[in-house]
Amino acid sequence: MRLAERMDHIHSFRVMDIVDAAQRLEAEGHRVIHMEVGEPREPTALPIREAGAAALARGETAYTSALGLPALRRAIATYYGAYHNVDLDSERVVVTAGATGALMLLSALLLNPQDAVLLGDPAYPCNRYFPRLFGAKASLMPLDPADGFALRGRHVSEAWSEKTCGVVLASPANPTGAVSAHSDLEAISACAQARGGWALFDEIYQGLTYPAGLEDCPSLAPHGQQAPSRVGTVLSLAGGADHEFVVNSFSKYFGMTGWRIGWLVAPRATIPALERLAQNAYIAPSTVGQHAALAALQADLFPLHEARRLAYFRSRNRLVNGLRALGFTVPVVPEGAFYVYAKLPPGQGTSETFCRSLLAKAAVAVTPGTDFGFEGAAEHVRFSYTAPFEDLEEALRRLAAFLGEGGVNGSGLLGA
Ligand SMILES: Cc1ncc(COP(=O)(O)O)c(C=O)c1O
Repeated sequence: MRLAERMDHIHSFRVMDIVDAAQRLEAEGHRVIHMEVGEPREPTALPIREAGAAALARGETAYTSALGLPALRRAIATYYGAYHNVDLDSERVVVTAGATGALMLLSALLLNPQDAVLLGDPAYPCNRYFPRLFGAKASLMPLDPADGFALRGRHVSEAWSEKTCGVVLASPANPTGAVSAHSDLEAISACAQARGGWALFDEIYQGLTYPAGLEDCPSLAPHGQQAPSRVGTVLSLAGGADHEFVVNSFSKYFGMTGWRIGWLVAPRATIPALERLAQNAYIAPSTVGQHAALAALQADLFPLHEARRLAYFRSRNRLVNGLRALGFTVPVVPEGAFYVYAKLPPGQGTSETFCRSLLAKAAVAVTPGTDFGFEGAAEHVRFSYTAPFEDLEEALRRLAAFLGEGGVNGSGLLGA
């Protein structure tokens, strides 16, 4: 059968090979340490699961409005008020099928064939493919490790061309954990506006930010009370700029990846078009997921979310210190998300060879940089640190043993 030409340009994640190989090892009885997946390892907090179960018990199983449950849209607007000091009209909030649903709707809303979308490299892989679905293309801006991999205003103004229609930026970023300074976000937004384009800020890791220092401390500044440069773009939403879009999700900070609920905040004038698109693309987001998400936003659950963040902070510190001690280069301490994007020690082959070999010989699964772009991708790997702390310690022990045996050049440990 002849598939559409676009399918020649849409690839599965390279990490899926690692996931398949990890499953084979597990079937043989090996205990694999998973640092490849970009999601919390523990299940969604119990009160959220109970809220989902209660919604099912009440028979909440019908479609909702394509824009989402009005109560959830209001709760999201209230969350911005309570945690980010932003007075947001709930009519500008659209609940979506994950941030992925939001990115797809916005791509459909904003892209014409032949348009170019500016993206950092490395970046979240799906953002390269969404433009393809609509005949547009991604234009990559190489990010510099010396800049902490953060996208700066100057990158965007230098890269903007006649074909460019907008820029997509995640802060905190996947795979680097980079957090952009608020001044850069403003400069990027202003640049897009001055050129008649749009700026899409993906804040799916909002809330998951940590101090730059690697010393553990008993508590962190609570969500929403971090320094302004750490809270993302929501400050500019207050003015309701008509070229800015914000994407967010219950997947990461709220620990709800499998429920498939995200949201976007869009200029008021675009909401009817987004509603039409959502109706046609997927009718409505999951009803039970939306009821569970409502519970996730209750103020009394934030201590649970924050406890998870504190655990990630400690894991980040341990992992950055541990990787550096083993010869990996982590140029700047990642201040957000739950990833460390590290350059391989010398002599360890390409990132794909390294990941395959590390899994086969030491049963530690990590993601090759080639999933995230091209710039330095063959030399970098992404470690996700959402596994329990003991697993991280074990992963570091296995990495030390693996490298001590010669790493990709060694004869291996597992079979021994
Ligand atoms: C930067 C970024 N954006 C969007 C997504 C999609 O998230 P979801 O659809 O689970 O909300 C991810 C998932 O890892 C991501 O890393």
